[in-house]
Amino acid sequence: MTLLSYKERINFPTILIIFGATGDLMERKLLPAIFNLYQKKFLPEMFKMIGFSRSNMSEKEYRLWVKKNLSNKKGIRGFLSRVQYQSGLFENLASYKELGKKLGMVDEKYKICTNKLFYLAVPPNYYEEIFKNLYKSGLTRPCGPTEGWTRVLVEKPFGEDLEKAEKLDKLLAKLFKEEQIYRIDHYLAKETVSNLIVFRFANSIFGNIWNKDFIEKIEIRLLEKNGVEKRGLFYDMLGALRDVGQNHLLQMLALITMDMPSNFSAESIRNKKVEVLKSLPVFDLEALKKNTIRGQYQGYLSIPGVRQNSKKETYFKIKLELNHPHWKGVPVILESGKKMKKNLTEIKITFKIVKPCLFCYPFKKDVDKDSDFLVEQHKNTLTFRISPKEGILLSFHSKKPGYNFKIERRELSFFYEDYYKKSKILSEYDKLLIDAFRGDQTLFTSTQEIISSWRFIDPIIKGWEKNVVPLKIYKP
Ligand code: BG6
Repeated sequence: MTLLSYKERINFPTILIIFGATGDLMERKLLPAIFNLYQKKFLPEMFKMIGFSRSNMSEKEYRLWVKKNLSNKKGIRGFLSRVQYQSGLFENLASYKELGKKLGMVDEKYKICTNKLFYLAVPPNYYEEIFKNLYKSGLTRPCGPTEGWTRVLVEKPFGEDLEKAEKLDKLLAKLFKEEQIYRIDHYLAKETVSNLIVFRFANSIFGNIWNKDFIEKIEIRLLEKNGVEKRGLFYDMLGALRDVGQNHLLQMLALITMDMPSNFSAESIRNKKVEVLKSLPVFDLEALKKNTIRGQYQGYLSIPGVRQNSKKETYFKIKLELNHPHWKGVPVILESGKKMKKNLTEIKITFKIVKPCLFCYPFKKDVDKDSDFLVEQHKNTLTFRISPKEGILLSFHSKKPGYNFKIERRELSFFYEDYYKKSKILSEYDKLLIDAFRGDQTLFTSTQEIISSWRFIDPIIKGWEKNVVPLKIYKP
């Protein structure tokens, strides 16, 4: 990872080509991020964005679509002058030739071979076709070794199962060099998530206690009040475990359990993450029954795009143990669900009670009867809160002022919003785009990480598909 400031602009003529340019991801996350980068003058002076999608629109209509989907419109005219559109079918090579003409015209206008970033904001079943066509049409061929790089950026999930991920991986390796491939997991660009490395390795007080001897359990959850809403078709191809488990939750687990990298480079960090991901268990049917729960919220089946008899999970909870010398015996709980009571995304570490414990049993009788202080609660916890209020919380115990030794649970907390203005915090997609322009792969997942994650996820999904674990229907 470079330590250069994000203010530093990447001032080389660049074209960002977005596949799925009218889709949900573009509308909600990508477009606002690109426009924000434009407003803050982070984009190169010579910059174009070309939307590519199946929707049959003229360039003018696409600009109107862009305008409609941006709430803050400061500087919109200048931005729209950089927006172009190419309608076409992902499976049709001729559409790529048309796109090629547009790219060529921009190069001619700027009188240079521009950098080209191809962003696949489409469902995973299109990846293979798009990659092949990009390659066949020659669009991803760089102009030369030193000018006009080309890169491909691919959204999660990478593949739909282990076999498809491996196949896709082989294909990518054949068509592109690893340094051209950027596999997105936007969770890695969240402040609290990228802060995990700093928090763990820049604060020596935690170094010695970050293992099975001191940590009792690790819980990672991503609970959302929202349902699947307009994403029925996409979501029903995946289900919750592929949508957020294989990627976001496992990436957080990797960052929280990996050993210290030898240096602060993308390669070292990714290698350390791979080590723990490789130690994920492979569940057999018995383990699957014992350690997993899956559910679907009532009403899911009536969402447009969802199959009538769909058995896709919108909730799951999995208990696992890493087969890693530092983590043997420590339960890890992964949980995620849509239409939950509240929004809550966090990583919670519970520490063991160190024996002998002066304030556990002898003082139990002295504990204030009205307080709910129990031995079980006499455990320190450290929580990395990702949502709703990003921050870090450390629980501890303290003596209540008075004659008796009454013990209370208190918290040391740090919340981003208390220290930084919201406008200063970049969105995940802002950061990922800048890093991809810059060529920094730290916040992108490596092929080995992805394959190791699928090795764990695949047997679970296969078992669920055989109904080894019944699908429970829950009320939103
Ligand atoms: C996406 C999933 O990757 O992550 C969504 O496809 C999920 O289903 C989202 O809602 C959660 O991300 P965030 O940034 O909103 O916490």
